[in-house]
Amino acid sequence: MAFTIAIDGPAASGKGTIARQLAARFGYAHLDTGLLYRAVGKQMLDGRDPLDAAQALTPEDVAGEGLRTNAVGQAASRVAALPEVRKALLDFQRAFARRDGGAVLDGRDIGTVICPEAEAKIFVIASPETRAERRHKELVEAGHDLSYDEVLADVHERDERDMGRADAPLKPAADAVTIDTTALGIDEAVARAIAVVEAARG
Ligand code: CDP
Ligand code: CDP
Repeated sequence: MAFTIAIDGPAASGKGTIARQLAARFGYAHLDTGLLYRAVGKQMLDGRDPLDAAQALTPEDVAGEGLRTNAVGQAASRVAALPEVRKALLDFQRAFARRDGGAVLDGRDIGTVICPEAEAKIFVIASPETRAERRHKELVEAGHDLSYDEVLADVHERDERDMGRADAPLKPAADAVTIDTTALGIDEAVARAIAVVEAARG
C-alpha cells in the first residue's frame, strides 16, 4: 500500500536530514528530489541543453559526484524554473511517491504538485542565517573554500528564485505541518516529524 511523506522547505532547512531519518524509522524508500535538479543543473554548466538533460536523466547522473556545490545548487535553481524541465521529471517522482511500501520525498513542491494526496506533509523552515551557517559548515568540511557571506547571499538568491517562480513555487501546502528548526537540534526536529507521521498513520 502507498503511504507518502512529503517534506518541503528552503535550502539547508534540514529537510533531507528529517527525510532520511523518517525513511529509516518507517522502512520507507527515500528520494531527494533536489538531486534530480542538481544533476540537470550540472549538465547545463557543462554546456548541455537542460531539457535534453532532464529527458535523458539516468540514475548514474543523479548518484554522480560534484552535485553538492554552491554553483550546482544555483544552476539547479535556474533549470528548476523551466516548466519543461519540471514536466520531464514529474512522472518519475509521482511513481516513486505512490510506490508500494511507503515513500519519503523531499524537495520544494512535493506536497503541492508532485503528491498533493500525500498522507503526511511537513514544511521545514529555519532562518536564512541559520541555514547559511549550516550550509557553510558543510561546504567547508567538504573542502570548498567560500565565506559565510557568500553562502548567505546564495541562500537568499535561491529562496527568492524558488519562491518567486510561476511553476511550482516553494510554498507550504494548505495541509502541511510547519516545523521551524532554527532553534531545534536534529533529534528534536526528527521527533516532531515522527509525531506528525504517527498522527497521520492513525
Ligand atoms: O539541499 P538544498 O535545499 O540546498 O537544495 P536541493 O534540495 O538540492 O535543491 C536544489 C534546487 O533544486 C532548489 O534550489 C530548487 O530550485 C530545485 N528544486 C525544485 O525546484 N523542486 C524540488 N522538488 C527540489 C529541488
Ligand atoms: O536538505 P536540506 O538542504 O534542507 O538540509 P540538510 O541537508 O538536512 O541539513 C543541512 C545541514 O544542517 C546538515 O549539515 C545538517 O546536519 C544540519 N542540521 C542542523 O544542524 N540542525 C537541524 N535541525 C537540521 C539540520
